Amino acid sequence: MSRYMVSNSRFLVPNIFDNCRFFSEKKITPQKQIDPRRVFKVYRFPGILANEKPKVETFEVDVSTCGKMVLDAMIKIKDMDPTFTFRRSCREGICGSCAVNLQGRNCLACITQIPQSKTMSLYPIPHMYVIRDLVVDMTHFFKGYASIRPYLVRKTQGPLGQQQYAQSVKDSLKMNGLYECVLCSCCATACPSYWWNGRRFLGPASLLHAYRWVIDSRDEDTEQRLKDLRDDFKAFRCHTIMNCSLDCPKGLHPAQAIAKLKLLISGMEKKPSPEIDPMKLASSGDWKKKCGC
Ligand code: SF4
Ligand code: SF4
Ligand code: FES
Repeated sequence: MSRYMVSNSRFLVPNIFDNCRFFSEKKITPQKQIDPRRVFKVYRFPGILANEKPKVETFEVDVSTCGKMVLDAMIKIKDMDPTFTFRRSCREGICGSCAVNLQGRNCLACITQIPQSKTMSLYPIPHMYVIRDLVVDMTHFFKGYASIRPYLVRKTQGPLGQQQYAQSVKDSLKMNGLYECVLCSCCATACPSYWWNGRRFLGPASLLHAYRWVIDSRDEDTEQRLKDLRDDFKAFRCHTIMNCSLDCPKGLHPAQAIAKLKLLISGMEKKPSPEIDPMKLASSGDWKKKCGC
């Protein structure tokens, strides 16, 4: 069929049936059936108290009997061996707890489709202390996160819980691609600088959050936040290798956030003033009118 049909009118109209599978003359070739049996090579470690060495165990899973995601296959493996241990909660990429290393890449098991390869490896996220099987110790990671003070700091504030701080749409857009982070640590544990200097370098996730709070037009602690990061290690051990951005399962770009943060720390750029006064609603009384209090 031609791309255009001649209609009764003097115009040529696009032929909408060209790409329609009901009218197309092209033969649809049936998809090749793939063997649904997959072999998972899974890292097993029974915990430090068991006094056993870690090993790799093999499980065969018929993936046609479970959901499409890696977490579904992991649950299937747990049905076979109830001692198999891993973290999960939301099963929809929100809680950030199911980070694993699949085929050498960090991912969230619940939002990663089971690959078509016959054999695949399933390990804990790298360079972390393993507690048991795929469960790692996140204490140090969250200590780093806590150290950037991940909350709004105000010098001028009204009575708590009774007002909101105003922010223009343009200012709020600056936090897009930052606040969505679910703290899964896929980025940090893929970062060579975090591997080698994890005690002093904050790593991509904490730095992404540091930038999120620095750039927030409602936050009034910018100077102190930037001062805290002004040393050779905390932020400047990032060498823009970009593994973090490559491995982020939420599609965020921590490397870019760190690059922008470095400009602010070094004083090469300044945080722009808020477009609207965050206390605007409090002083105008609009919030009281809106909430009827
Ligand atoms: S860009 Fe920076 S934070 Fe990201 S992986 Fe590379 S060194 Fe690590
Ligand atoms: S930036 Fe991405 S990979 Fe890193 S902790 Fe946040 S969601 Fe996970
Ligand atoms: S189970 Fe919550 S992110 Fe995977």
